[in-house]
Amino acid sequence: MKQARRLDNAPPYLFVEIEENIKKALAKGVDVINLGIGDPDMPTPYFVVRKMAEAIKNPIYHAYPEYDGCLEFRCAVAEHYKKRFGVDLDPETEVVALLGSKEGIAHIFFALVNEGDFTLVPDPEYPVYELATALTGGVPYHMPLTKENGFFPDLSTIPKEVIKRSKILFVNYPNNPTGAVADLEQFQKLVDFGLEHDIVVCNDNAYSEFTYDGIKAPSILNADNAKEIAVEFHSFSKSYNMTGWRLGFAVGNKEAISKLKKMKNNIDSGVFTAIQIAGIEALKGCEKFVEGMRKIYARRRDIAINELQKLGFEFEVPKGAFYFWIKVPDGYTSKSFADMLLEKTGVVVAPGRGYGEYGEGYIRISLTINDERLKEAFERIRKLGI
Ligand code: MLT
Repeated sequence: MKQARRLDNAPPYLFVEIEENIKKALAKGVDVINLGIGDPDMPTPYFVVRKMAEAIKNPIYHAYPEYDGCLEFRCAVAEHYKKRFGVDLDPETEVVALLGSKEGIAHIFFALVNEGDFTLVPDPEYPVYELATALTGGVPYHMPLTKENGFFPDLSTIPKEVIKRSKILFVNYPNNPTGAVADLEQFQKLVDFGLEHDIVVCNDNAYSEFTYDGIKAPSILNADNAKEIAVEFHSFSKSYNMTGWRLGFAVGNKEAISKLKKMKNNIDSGVFTAIQIAGIEALKGCEKFVEGMRKIYARRRDIAINELQKLGFEFEVPKGAFYFWIKVPDGYTSKSFADMLLEKTGVVVAPGRGYGEYGEGYIRISLTINDERLKEAFERIRKLGI
């Protein structure tokens, strides 16, 4: 069977490939330690599960959900934004519920990008920005994120003819995979650039609650005039250990949100209302829970810093998110190193090339594993003697 040309342009999803490799290793009896995907190893907080158990019994929630998310959920998001970021949002026009942030991220490309348009995407990047560009027939312009530029795009190097034909600029701070965190000044630069060139600026803020060393991540909507051009995506997956629930939201510029809603309304029928009701509970009780999670990741981060230093690996200490972006030793590509680690140690890591050209020469490890297994992973790598 022939597939649509747009699918030819899309590479297999990075974590589907990794999952295949894990299945093969498990079938051979390997004791796999998965430092690949960023899937929290701890359960959804009990107060959220309890609310879900209650909500699911209510037949009112068994019908089609409201397309844009129920008003109660959108109001809770607006309240959360005011409390956490000091930003006012109109729940009617500036908030939409998502089936996980990945869904909304992909759909906003479909809502804004025509065939042949440029999209400005970071490199390395969360693979969905690239895949969504490919599926819309757009052309990605890669903005390198390097150690030298502090893992922040240098907007002055983007050619004028690319800027003219660009519809969307995507960033992701706190950053996956590099761990960089943008400050307000950096967000302001992006917003000013978007306003000057009429390019919608999107920040994927899935890791907003995971920052270290006293840093608190801002929202891009904190920048002056941001709501005139910017949209921000959030996920319940990482902050509240809810990857399986598929819940997120997008907020910001009402025109862009309305186009995203139109796209979504024609494709999906919204998020199961009982899940939104549970999500409201997560937002209400989040502060204390998230503080506990942040401490756990900070502890694992210290373990990883210590172990990586002992191993002599080159890496940046992450300021945010829960990943380490690590240089592979000489003589390896990101893939050959990841493959070798799985084969010889049973440790799964994400090869940097899966995040773009500038990811070559790196691997990403995720801290979503308990301290003992994390230490064991490093111990197995140490025994390799590289
Ligand atoms: C990651 O591990 O980077 C992602 O969160 C996984 C995903 O969203 O597919």
